[in-house]
This record gives sequence, C-alpha cells and structure tokens, in this order.
Amino acid sequence: MARIGIFGAGYVGLVTGACLADLGHDVAVRDVVPAKIERLRSGRAPIYEPGLDELLERCAERLRFTLDVQEALHGAEVIFVCVGTPPTYSGDADLSAVWTVVDEIPAGTSCILAMKSTVPVGTGEKVRAALVARGLAEVGYVSNPEFLAEGTAIRDFMNPDRVVVGAFRPGDAERVAQLYEPLETTVVRTDVASAEMVKLASNAFLTTRVSFINEIANVCELVGADVVDVARGVGLDHRLGSHFLRAGVGWGGSCFGKDVSALKQLAGNSGYHFQLLSAVIEVNELQKRRVVGKLAKHLGKLQDRRIALLGLAFKPGTDDLRDAPSLVLASRLLAEGADVRAWDPVADARPLLHGAVFCDSVLEAVTGADAAVIVTEWPELAGLASAEVREAMRVPLIVDGRNLLDPAATRAAGFVYEGIGRPSDPAGPSG
Ligand code: UDX
Repeated sequence: MARIGIFGAGYVGLVTGACLADLGHDVAVRDVVPAKIERLRSGRAPIYEPGLDELLERCAERLRFTLDVQEALHGAEVIFVCVGTPPTYSGDADLSAVWTVVDEIPAGTSCILAMKSTVPVGTGEKVRAALVARGLAEVGYVSNPEFLAEGTAIRDFMNPDRVVVGAFRPGDAERVAQLYEPLETTVVRTDVASAEMVKLASNAFLTTRVSFINEIANVCELVGADVVDVARGVGLDHRLGSHFLRAGVGWGGSCFGKDVSALKQLAGNSGYHFQLLSAVIEVNELQKRRVVGKLAKHLGKLQDRRIALLGLAFKPGTDDLRDAPSLVLASRLLAEGADVRAWDPVADARPLLHGAVFCDSVLEAVTGADAAVIVTEWPELAGLASAEVREAMRVPLIVDGRNLLDPAATRAAGFVYEGIGRPSDPAGPSG
C-alpha cells in the first residue's frame, strides 16, 4: 500500500483521497483553506456528496487533513494534484493553483506528480520542464484525469469505465496504475498529451450529445414529435447508446462549461477553429432561455407573474450551483419583472439570486403561482401534478424543463403541460 498526498480538498481531491484510503492507501489531503481543513478534521465534508461523510468516517485511520505542505509530502510516493482550474476571461484555464503546487515541491523530492485537475493539452510538458529547471528531474509526471460525476462520484471512482494514465516514463505510469489495481478496470496507457486530451474530448463529446438532443427537441416541438420517444429509439442503436440524450433546459455544472470552453480555446490558440464546439456552447445558452418563451406563450407578459422555479442545483443529488441553468433562467425572469419563487432541497442560491423569494417547500413555492417550472429533476418533484398543488396554484401551468412528468397523467390531473421537445398544449390559461 502506498503513501499518497492529495493537493486540493474539493470534490475531486476529497473523493479521490477518501476512495484511495478505502482501497487501503495512507492518504494526506492538503488544502489552503483553514475552515475546510477544520471541518474535515471534525469528520464532516465541506461539500454535499452522497456517501462521502460515511466514507470519511470509515477511512478516518488512513486519512489525514492538513494545511501543511510538508506534512502532505512526507513520505508520499504519489502526489495527486486536484486543485481548481477555473476559466479566465479569455476562456483559457487558470493554472495558477497548479503552478503553486509545483513550486511548493521542495528540492530532493522524488515522488510522482499525478495530475487530476483538468488542464490544457501541453501542461504536462510545461510542468516537466519547470521541474527539470528546478533540479527536480527525478519527480515523475503522470496525467491521470478524473471522470467523476457529482452525486455519483464515489461510485464512479470505485467502478470506473476506465483509468487513463499518460506518462513520460513507463515506470511512473506503472506506479500510478498500481494504485487502482483492486478496481479491475481497463487502464488506458498513453503519452501525457493524449491523456490530457481524453479528458477534454470526453466532456466535449458529452456536451455535444446533450446539445444535439436539445436541438432535436426544439425541432420535435415544431413538427409534433416527442423527443423522449425519439431519444429512446435513437439510443437503442448500440452504435449510439442511450446516455446523455435527455433533452432539457441545458447542461451546467463545474466541469462542462469550463472544459468545453478550454478545449475551444486550446484549439483556437493552436490555429484551429473548432466550429462544432462553438455551436454546442451557443445551443446551450439558448436552451437555458427557452422556458421563458414557453411561459410567455401561455401567460403573455411575465411582468408581475408569479413563477415557481423548482430545483436550482445544476442537477439532482448535489448542492452545486456552478453554471446551473436555473441561475440564467431566474435572472431572465427577474429581468422580465416576474415574481420568482425558488425552491431547492439542498442548494442555497440566496447569495447568487438577488430578487427571488426562496421557499422552504414545493407547496410554498407554487402557492399563488402562475406557473411551476421544473428546472432540476429532483425525485421530490415526480409527484408535482397533485390535486394539492393544482389547488394551490393561481394558474395550473407546469413547464417541465426536464421531461420528468408523464404528460398525459399531468393533463388528466388538470394541469396545462409544457415539456421540452414534446407535443404541447395550445396557448391556454392567461389567468
Ligand atoms: C461531468 C462529467 O460527467 C464528468 O465525467 C466530469 O468529470 C465532470 O463533469 P457532472 O458535472 O457532475 O460531471 O455532471 P453530469 O452528470 O455529467 O451532468 C452535467 C450536466 O448535463 C447537468 O446539468 C445535467 O443536467 C446535464 N445533462 C446530462 C442533460 O441535460 N442531459 C443528459 O442527458 C445528461
């Protein structure tokens, strides 16, 4: 079993650290934010990720949290870099946190640096050159991208579709691959640049699929087809597969937007105009706003209309609001003068959405509302089309931004129903 240092106690660092400890390794997680480390030392995760608190408790003996670089590096064979790489104004990735870690490695170290943070292709080469320039040629470098989805991150780590390991020296790749041995998965060994590209290409392809099905949905609305059935029929083709074909109000989250934009910039900086990605991004921006048109179709002007936004997190199972379509939609509605009532079971959007009224329950949010919009498909919303909700609303209009409900049953329950890419009701109640 190995001694491992993790730099960065965000989603990736914490899940990676806890899971590696669960596999039997001795792990020290280092972060620069004292409050985070304090909280972790008291046994609580600073983020909402199902199963993480339990895992931290189970592995407490093999898992330490520290602010101290030396403590994290002490005896570590492998150091995982799991720091943030947010987009800059130009859409490039901000690598300052990565460089800080590289600069902190003291002389005489001979560990392997395993990069989990998503970085532009070519970063590995630059880090290696910087290490050599500092007399740290012994430090190995491995690109080992993560493919963890929030809400299922622990399961994704423990049952990976693949582990990608790109290295300059075969021995370094071997050492990092060994850490994952108990997981019995396919290990893809490549050069560093290819491993870096696997991560960017994977996320770009996933967003392309979602933007594609969203455009199909928009055409379905014009020609009277139902995108849910279409996606099922398409997805059963084994060449295509059924994942990431759910039409909705657009993709969000901490990774997709920044990674797609980083790949687009990387291509542009390298002299290639990645047209497809430009369209994928633009389709998504428009998709987040389409609900406004659906509301206006039934309600006319949205000024002073009370709109319940149900679900704010960028997807269910997380409290993460980064790049959440709900924020764009809410801001648009507020700009139209609507009275926005927002509800989410875990995400707290109060600091981000000024002007919205935050509600503690779905019923409170829909009371007196002219429309209820499902923005995030939380399981709690599956029973939205109830008599209680219909009676509480001023206008019984449901805009189902995630195609969560059954249209026929919702209509039978007395609601006007608008989905995404599904046959819709004619312009109806204006209240
Ligand atoms: C994603 C990648 O899946 C993961 O591999 C990567 O490491 C980080 O980014 P995550 O951001 O947690 O993970 O979310 P994911 O489950 O992939 O969903 C992203 C967004 O796409 C969500 O807003 C979701 O609602 C949306 N989506 C997903 C759709 O709109 N339709 C789909 O069919 C699938």
